[in-house]
Amino acid sequence: MLLGVNIDHIAVLREARAIADPDPLDALSIVKRAGADQITIHLREDRRHIRDSDAENIIKHSMLPINLECAISPEIIDIVTTLRPHRATIVPEKREEVTTEGGLAVVGEQIALQRAIAQLQANEIEVSLFIDPTIESVEASKSLGVEWIEFHTGKYANIYAMLYGNLASTPYSIAELELTRTKLKKMLRDELKILRCLSYDAVEMGLRVAAGHGLNYHNVKEIVDIETIEELNIGQSIIARSVFSGLEQAILDMRALLLR
Ligand code: PXP
Repeated sequence: MLLGVNIDHIAVLREARAIADPDPLDALSIVKRAGADQITIHLREDRRHIRDSDAENIIKHSMLPINLECAISPEIIDIVTTLRPHRATIVPEKREEVTTEGGLAVVGEQIALQRAIAQLQANEIEVSLFIDPTIESVEASKSLGVEWIEFHTGKYANIYAMLYGNLASTPYSIAELELTRTKLKKMLRDELKILRCLSYDAVEMGLRVAAGHGLNYHNVKEIVDIETIEELNIGQSIIARSVFSGLEQAILDMRALLLR
């Protein structure tokens, strides 16, 4: 299974002090050495972490393909077209959000998406759409002619965290806890079933399927088991572990979990 490492959080740390360190550019050789397949970065409209100069330098110097996440705004799409990454993943963006909270409204934004996708593809940039796992979004993505879709796994990750997080510290009785666990287990099974069925459908339609958001060393295995998902893009958990183990080891640990 392919692994894209999202290195935005290195820039988040730098921006916390608004100085030059740590530089996400320094991650490129480490990510490559650790056996990842792709580097993912997000050039947000508010430039809260990755700056234009980061994106430019990373695309120029990376030996690995760059997957540049971007909003649909014409200003950003023009920049992406000039930078020419290997892939552009179109994501929804809200200034007030801490992270990308959900998938694109593919059905409601077809005209704007069509324009952006045509511009990117005309510049030989493959396009992916970051979508919620729904059949409407998969079908709309197919009709837009993109090469990839990436399923937002946030809901799956949230259910997983509720189920295996510290439920015991909540003010529930034992009986209530058991009921909650049973419900959460069912919700998790249902969400995995949806991801599995839709990935299969998407591949049948000729789309390539990636997934990401909220995946970590605990919850990734069930997603790896879905054979039709070809690639995962993972940021937060890898960068968090790298604080203690170093970036190379953190990627090697994740890589090992992605073996099929
Ligand atoms: N994929 C996409 C499209 C994203 O926007 C992000 C970041 O929100 C990720 C993957 C990685 O998510 P995380 O940092 O939670 O691993």
